[in-house]
Amino acid sequence: MGIGSALMKDAIARARALGHGAIILVGDPEYYARFGFTAEKTAALAMPGPFEKHRLLALELRDGALDGASGVLRATGAKCQVLRRAA
Ligand SMILES: CC(C)(COP(=O)(O)OP(=O)(O)OC[C@H]1O[C@@H](n2cnc3c(N)ncnc32)[C@H](O)[C@@H]1OP(=O)(O)O)[C@@H](O)C(=O)NCCC(=O)NCCS
Repeated sequence: MGIGSALMKDAIARARALGHGAIILVGDPEYYARFGFTAEKTAALAMPGPFEKHRLLALELRDGALDGASGVLRATGAKCQVLRRAA
């Protein structure tokens, strides 16, 4: 019904407006390709737990934001701090 695409477009626009350089997610490449997500710059990145490499996708919001990115991803940001305090 277009709800998935509408949510993705809104999330991408909000991330861009907040000044983020990129969005990284785990999902079906066949679906997320339509929004510009690829596994091109995620080869040297990893999740803290098990994940399927070909499903780790990224969309750069700023050209080159993920150039040379490597290592294990970890959560950051205001919501993460709230969760840490609650734990
Ligand atoms: C992926 C999902 C959120 C899309 O939501 P939606 O509201 O149906 O999305 P839209 O209506 O905006 O888009 C539907 C289009 O996406 C395609 N699509 C949906 N899931 C897809 C998938 N997993 N792989 C490839 N294409 C997919 C549909 O075939 C349709 O294509 P069309 O535009 O050419 O007709 C929804 O299908 C869903 O919850 N799927 C189950 C979970 C899932 O597959 N998640 C994938 C990421 S982990």
